[in-house]
Amino acid sequence: MGTLPADFVFGVSTASYQIEGGVSEDGRGRSVWDDFCDRPGVIADGSSGAVACDSFHRSGDDIAAMAELGIAAYRFSVAWPRVLPQGRGQVNQAGLDYYDRLVDGLLAHGIRPCPTLFHWDLPSPLEAAGGWLERDTALAFGEYAAVVADRLADRADMWFPVNEPNVVTYLGYGTGAHAPGRALGLGALPVAHHLLLGHGLAVAALRAAGAASIGCANHHSPVWAASESPEDEAAAAFCDATFNRLFAEPILLGAYPEGLGDMLPGPVAEDLQLISAPLDSYGVNYYNPVLAAATPGPGEAAESTGLPYFFRRIEGYPRTDFDWPVVPDGLRELVVQLTQRYGDRLPPIYITENGCSDNTGPDSVGRVADSRRIDYVANHLDALGDAIDQGADVRGYFQWSLLDNFEWADGYAQRFGLIHVDFDTLTRTPKDSFAWYRDRIAANRG
Ligand code: NOJ
Repeated sequence: MGTLPADFVFGVSTASYQIEGGVSEDGRGRSVWDDFCDRPGVIADGSSGAVACDSFHRSGDDIAAMAELGIAAYRFSVAWPRVLPQGRGQVNQAGLDYYDRLVDGLLAHGIRPCPTLFHWDLPSPLEAAGGWLERDTALAFGEYAAVVADRLADRADMWFPVNEPNVVTYLGYGTGAHAPGRALGLGALPVAHHLLLGHGLAVAALRAAGAASIGCANHHSPVWAASESPEDEAAAAFCDATFNRLFAEPILLGAYPEGLGDMLPGPVAEDLQLISAPLDSYGVNYYNPVLAAATPGPGEAAESTGLPYFFRRIEGYPRTDFDWPVVPDGLRELVVQLTQRYGDRLPPIYITENGCSDNTGPDSVGRVADSRRIDYVANHLDALGDAIDQGADVRGYFQWSLLDNFEWADGYAQRFGLIHVDFDTLTRTPKDSFAWYRDRIAANRG
């Protein structure tokens, strides 16, 4: 087991629509997730983020819990429709005030505020104008970044402009499983470029405002081939190119993987200059590897994405309550692979998300004994220690998530929190994993 350096940054991550609630308060506009949740049948339990963990009214409780954990940094997201209810133009100062208070509250407890600017809650008026299929949305995102930076850059620490552009592209516009629920298959590819351009424009705005440190929050899954056949190897390579490299390489190398740039709307070459502006950190969200094959598995329907690969089930590992395989060594594999692939183009890595759904609830005395989460986090931290021993420059880890929260299309059915939330009463109960993480952080400090 590798050890983590004494100055390793431990944190937690959350996202606005998943925890805040208060969707109609203080002038917040609507987002694509408000609209999506109104559609019958798209959220597993028919719920929405309208109340969620009520963090809009309880950020004091959130901060107190984080202070007790002893974390050094909190990655939260700013809701674009709170700040610009129409997506651009008129600024809603009352919306910004919420984040202003949050930042000051964190700093009062010595916790570094780390804002994400887009964790999927796109203002509805921008979606009505075409959303991320339109270049104009990237320009609006740059304007919004400047507005938030103007208010918070004097105090916020690490910035992560866009969360998981690959998931927005594939699930939001490719399959339609997420808001805005558009199932365009390969027609979603312009979204990838516009999210990356938005990232580049936000980086420029944040730099101009003197932001302390700027990174990204890219979801990465190591892609394993289902067999050694040339067909499966090619399928896995294509999956890696379209799911991982398509989003990493414009940022890190200023280029799209071979063949993919031609499929994107331009002016791509000029845009890549902006997109590849140097970063201070490279944020990685990791949950599990994927297994790719050239053909669907037995009994599996071919998906309609039009992409020449199929996901197979990874056997032989424990599984989370989401049925995701638990593969801590995949995190080591991933950061070592990033280090080898991108060399000195890769800034220091921060794990901007990692965690698991363990739906263990309170027992008869109210204790939440979520031992599977403890094992999950412990083993992934050990894997990071191993990666560091193998030469990866990993500086921090943000556990997903502080609280059980609104898990997108799965509603409240999947619980990722260190703190249990009773969504009827909004009572919060720290789980065993909360105490474990607190002690792990303290022990690392020595
Ligand atoms: C990554 C996303 O950024 C986050 O919003 C989500 O809750 C977790 N994955 C778990 O699915």
